[in-house]
Amino acid sequence: MSLSQTIDFDLDLINRYNTAGPRYTSYPTAVQFHEGLDADRYAEIARGTNASGRPLSLYFHIPFCDTVCFYCACNKVVTKDRAKARPYLDRLYKEMALQGELFDRSRPVTQLHWGGGTPTFISHDEMIELMDKTREHFRLLDDDTGEYSIEIDPREVQEDTLALLRKLGFNRISLGVQDFDETVQKAVNRVQTEAQVMSVLDEARRLGFRSTSVDLIYGLPHQTPDTFGDTVRRIIEVNPARISVFNYAHLPDRFKPQRRIDEDALPNPADKLTILQQTIQQLTEAGYVYIGMDHFARPDDELAVAQRDHTLYRNFQGYSTHSNCDLIGLGSTSVGVVGNSYSQNHHDLEKYYQCLDENRLAVFRGVELDTDDLLRRDVITRLICHFELAFADVERAHGIVFGDYFAQELEGLKPMEADGLLKVTGNAITVQPAGRLLIRNICMVFDRYLRQATEQRYSKVI
Ligand SMILES: C[S@@+](CC[C@H](N)C(=O)[O-])C[C@H]1O[C@@H](n2cnc3c(N)ncnc32)[C@H](O)[C@@H]1O
Ligand code: SF4
Repeated sequence: MSLSQTIDFDLDLINRYNTAGPRYTSYPTAVQFHEGLDADRYAEIARGTNASGRPLSLYFHIPFCDTVCFYCACNKVVTKDRAKARPYLDRLYKEMALQGELFDRSRPVTQLHWGGGTPTFISHDEMIELMDKTREHFRLLDDDTGEYSIEIDPREVQEDTLALLRKLGFNRISLGVQDFDETVQKAVNRVQTEAQVMSVLDEARRLGFRSTSVDLIYGLPHQTPDTFGDTVRRIIEVNPARISVFNYAHLPDRFKPQRRIDEDALPNPADKLTILQQTIQQLTEAGYVYIGMDHFARPDDELAVAQRDHTLYRNFQGYSTHSNCDLIGLGSTSVGVVGNSYSQNHHDLEKYYQCLDENRLAVFRGVELDTDDLLRRDVITRLICHFELAFADVERAHGIVFGDYFAQELEGLKPMEADGLLKVTGNAITVQPAGRLLIRNICMVFDRYLRQATEQRYSKVI
């Protein structure tokens, strides 16, 4: 492993810096979205991007799940009624037609993702139909060169589901595993056997899916370093290209199903950190590279290669190698990143349906980035993806003098530098191994809206 990809696990620092903060899948974050950016403004922005000829990225949100996992923080609709997919898909097709009119048909779709909820909740015929309809409105790539991915719940795949998905053009899957331990699985209402998981991974490999990714969660009830260590060991044995290790945040006031989790069974903060430390050790010893923010990849995986080449990018679907796309969000809750804007669809199914029934896009809020937002987004993206930032690169791209523009931020980094999280030289910021797990805290220094919020709070106190 190259030195640049090592992480130091410093318990004292982690405890000290362990504050809530944004994950920076966008900057500005969703807190800044407002209803001034409506469907009409979105349409104008979208049309304006055609001159660039940039490729497109399509995100489809399929919100349905058959059963609820108590920990889940995703936007979903839990139902046993498979017929619920029909009215949803009908609206999705309407939305695609409206969106398709805004973008030149010549623009290739280099990235496509079905997320959820559970995308495989829909029937095989519906999957075929959804891809056919997509093709009617957008230029899909038929040569397997795109990054076409889908989230898979191992309990929701039939014998021939993966073969069908491969035929439809998918070449990547991410698999929700979470934890193999039976006690943990029962406590979170997510019971699935190891055999189910392994057969999906085997099948994916046999069918030539280019990349498989596994999701794990640490901090779930009844987890111990021993039991979770076992899950990680078994996953390493099957050697997926990518592994995500998400931190379970228990927020029962916000996510209702989490109220069914027995709080007394949750690992305490010290155990959670032990689990994290042990997981990092297991994965790095097995040769995985820490990409950043919960993600690990084999050194030959595209993400690890892109990190080394400095072409890695981060968006709503996590890390990606495709930076130069306009991202169209389709379905309830979806977020689009089009031109210099973020735009989001209604969460609520009824409102989403109503808009499309009235022949309107379902965008209800968003934000347009000004030059300061674009500059700060670039700085945050570089730090989060590459753990380093050369001032000259930012100066060239944005026509500023880094030390002048960010004098206050560079001052703000000093305590972190003293703590060994990073090094600032006259021409660059380099995140140190001890700062890698705390990259969010470093990025927060460059977040203008956080600073404003803190200043406002401060002045109120006085
Ligand atoms: C939309 S879900 C995945 C798709 C599919 N429904 C499944 O469960 O397999 C995406 C991932 O988010 C993660 N996740 C969901 N709720 C979480 C939470 N409260 N804390 C941490 N990770 C969470 C899980 O690892 C899950 O696999
Ligand atoms: S983790 Fe996946 S299957 Fe479980 S409730 Fe959330 S979205 Fe649905």
